Amino acid sequence: MKKFKLSGSTLLTAAVATAMVGCVANAKEQSAPVTAAAAVVTPIAMAAKAEMDPPLAPLGSIPVPIPADNKQTPEKVELGKMLFFDPRLGGDASISCASCHEPESGWGWADAISRGYPGTVHWRNSQTVVNSAYYKKLFWAGSAKSLEAQAPSAAKGGVAGNGENDIMEARLALIPEYRKRFNEVFGDQYPTIGNAWKAIASFERTLVQTDTPLDKYLEGDKSALSEEQLRGMKLFNGKAGCIQCHNGPLASDEKYYNIGVPPAERWEEDGLAQITFRFELYAKGSNEEMYRTTKADPGLYFRGKNKWSKGKFRTPSLRYTAYTAPYMHNGAFYTMEEVVDFYNAGGVAEDGRTTGFPKTKSKLIKPLGLSDQEKEDLLAFIGAFSGDEIEMEKPELPEYAPLFTEAELKEAKK
Ligand code: HEC
Ligand code: HEC
Repeated sequence: MKKFKLSGSTLLTAAVATAMVGCVANAKEQSAPVTAAAAVVTPIAMAAKAEMDPPLAPLGSIPVPIPADNKQTPEKVELGKMLFFDPRLGGDASISCASCHEPESGWGWADAISRGYPGTVHWRNSQTVVNSAYYKKLFWAGSAKSLEAQAPSAAKGGVAGNGENDIMEARLALIPEYRKRFNEVFGDQYPTIGNAWKAIASFERTLVQTDTPLDKYLEGDKSALSEEQLRGMKLFNGKAGCIQCHNGPLASDEKYYNIGVPPAERWEEDGLAQITFRFELYAKGSNEEMYRTTKADPGLYFRGKNKWSKGKFRTPSLRYTAYTAPYMHNGAFYTMEEVVDFYNAGGVAEDGRTTGFPKTKSKLIKPLGLSDQEKEDLLAFIGAFSGDEIEMEKPELPEYAPLFTEAELKEAKK
């Protein structure tokens, strides 16, 4: 380091200087020859890339996207909230959306792999629904195009809600309060299932958080971040390179990468989990060789079946992560400290395990050479992506009642 005398340089910005520290450290770790030219070119190239990455921005600077055919109204949001918490929109009427997206568990499920439909486990970590309104593609591998399209796949999926349209509609029809509300909101004579998904999507669009310490800072309140967090931000944008993927207002570029997350150990140990894994591989169209040999979640691969996409997942937002542990598509890490250590080691877990698809691992993920103090600073900064916990009382759910009264039936028989 001393050799290059960075501190006095007028050419290099602070960001470039921090990037350079990272590069020199990396080069050392890989025992590559460090020439002065290489050491100067690389950080400048990195800085050029960093300049192209959209900076972090307040989430409040962009409006919540609302589709033209599903306008928000307070009545629709209220109906959607009831339906989100109502287990009758599912197979055996025992689990609702909120069962796997619990408000008190970060609007997700606090285990590595989500709970599943009774008698099953899921195969991925349950994502928070907070801020999901902003994503263009939903799910870990981006397989759903909108909240309206996502909701039925959740309520009907074999290891999720396992519901069936006709029975779910029949249940809604026998709940007078829903008949009334669907009629007022959508003009339905009897509740239609498509409108249930629309109402749920409208409710989800209200679960957003735009007043985090980071947002306040970016909107001009310079006291919103601590000294430690400010140092962490510099690392995030520079030496640690997080900004390359976690950028823009959502802190996600919404692109897909294999960052090295090791496969879930649970599939090796737990028969029920392995059944789900095999079921998903089969249902999503694996060929026989893949079905027999695959040990890790192929992720994006199932959208297009391209070899280069194996093991890639959508960059998730870092917002609200204070409440959403464990982290990653399979909950590989229980704490944010583990996540930072994993990145610092170049996408390798503490026990040395890494991706099941080494060929597709992102070149952007490499050892960072962060000191203990730098790790602390980065952790403090990640905390600034979360504001207060979004709490919510479960709504009171309306009761079933026969469609017709005795008197009405008698009248009809006349
Ligand atoms: C059995 C558990 C379970 C149930 C029930 C469930 N979910 Fe999920 N949800 C998950 C899991 C697991 C994922 C991630 C799955 C994946 O990526 O393949 C997920 C993902 C999501 C996402 C994507 C978030 C993002 O960042 O892309 C949304 C939105 C969502 N669920 C909403 C719902 C709604 C609405 C319902 C009810 C209609 C529902 N979920 C029911 C477990 C569940
Ligand atoms: C090459 C792009 C890329 C870079 C660089 C990157 N990330 Fe990520 N990040 C991702 C992707 C993709 C995932 C999801 C991976 C998975 O589940 O397999 C992720 C997941 C995460 C998660 C888990 C979030 C959750 O909801 O479970 C955290 C936290 C995180 N990254 C923080 C960081 C930090 C801190 C840095 C910088 C040290 C960083 N990332 C650098 C792409 C990136």
